[in-house]
Amino acid sequence: MNLTRLVYYSQRNPSESLEVEDLIGTCQRNNARLNVSGLLHYNGDHFLQVIEGGRVEVSALYHRIARDTRHSNIILLSCQDVRERMFPSWTMGLHQGMDDRTRQIYLRYFSSDEVNPESVNVESLLDVLQDLAVELSPKISINGV
Ligand SMILES: Cc1cc2nc3c(=O)[nH]c(=O)nc-3n(C[C@H](O)[C@H](O)[C@H](O)COP(=O)(O)O)c2cc1C
Repeated sequence: MNLTRLVYYSQRNPSESLEVEDLIGTCQRNNARLNVSGLLHYNGDHFLQVIEGGRVEVSALYHRIARDTRHSNIILLSCQDVRERMFPSWTMGLHQGMDDRTRQIYLRYFSSDEVNPESVNVESLLDVLQDLAVELSPKISINGV
């Protein structure tokens, strides 16, 4: 069936504790079951997440994530049917931090390394996230490869 890709931006809630490794473990366990793939980029203040999979699964997961008190001010950047997955190798890849390499990748596509969710070009943002994903390991694939 169709594939849907959803992208959102949110702010970490500093008054809730956050164990990123635990969170990603939950994502990988649940998403594998749902055939959902994607990438979570966390720079310490904000999350950017791409979720791709079946329309119903992506929609239900987004609503669950949106209720999570570990983040707030969620802005839905895009949700559309797509022809293929962008992150087939990750049930949920994690890219953390904003080091020099990450900054360089942002500056390849944007005039600065700050994302303004109100005006950001989502296609360019996906280019950034794809470049960041190349640097990730190990891969945890939705089809076990
Ligand atoms: C930034 C962020 C991203 C999340 N991404 C996912 C995800 O991709 N998949 C998932 O199952 N839960 C994700 N969650 C966690 C969900 O909000 C929820 O806690 C979790 O799905 C509950 O799973 P459990 O019932 O197995 O504990 C995310 C939470 C946050 C704060």
